[in-house]
Amino acid sequence: MRIAISSDHGGNNLRREIMQLLDELHISYEDFGPQSADSVDYPDYAKPVSDGVANGKFDKGILICGTGIGMSIAANKVNGIRCALVHDVFSAKATRCHNDSNVLAMGERVIGPGLAREIVQTWLETEFEGGRHTRRIEKITELEQ
Ligand code: RB5
Repeated sequence: MRIAISSDHGGNNLRREIMQLLDELHISYEDFGPQSADSVDYPDYAKPVSDGVANGKFDKGILICGTGIGMSIAANKVNGIRCALVHDVFSAKATRCHNDSNVLAMGERVIGPGLAREIVQTWLETEFEGGRHTRRIEKITELEQ
C-alpha cells in the first residue's frame, strides 16, 4: 500500500504524528508537505495528494488542516476522489465499508493525536464491503460527469 499525505500549516503537527504512525506500521508514503510552518493555502496541498490517488500513483491519501473541512472540500472536487472527513473511529470504519473512501481528511484543531492515530489505522485496515454499496459508488461517479 502506498499513501500520499499532506497538510496545511494548521495540520503540520498532526501530519508529522501520522507519518510516524505510518513508519511504525511499515506503510510507505510520500509526504507532500508543507516543510515549513508558514501560512499556506490548503487547496495547493490537497491537489497533489488527490491527483496522485485519482491517477493511481497512490492507493490512498491523507489530508490534514485545522478543521479538515477545507481539505475535504478541495479533495472532493477532483474526479475519482471520495474524501471522508472523519473525527471518530466508527466513521473511519463505516466510510471504508460503505463509501470506499480513498482519501481521509482530519482536523488537527478538532482531535488529539491518539484518536487520530486510531482513526488512521482503522481506516487503512478496513476493506470496502462492496455489494449494494457498489451501486451507490457508481451513482456518485455519475455525478462527476
Ligand atoms: C487555516 O487557518 C484553516 O482555515 C485551515 O487549516 C482549515 O481549517 C480550513 O478548512
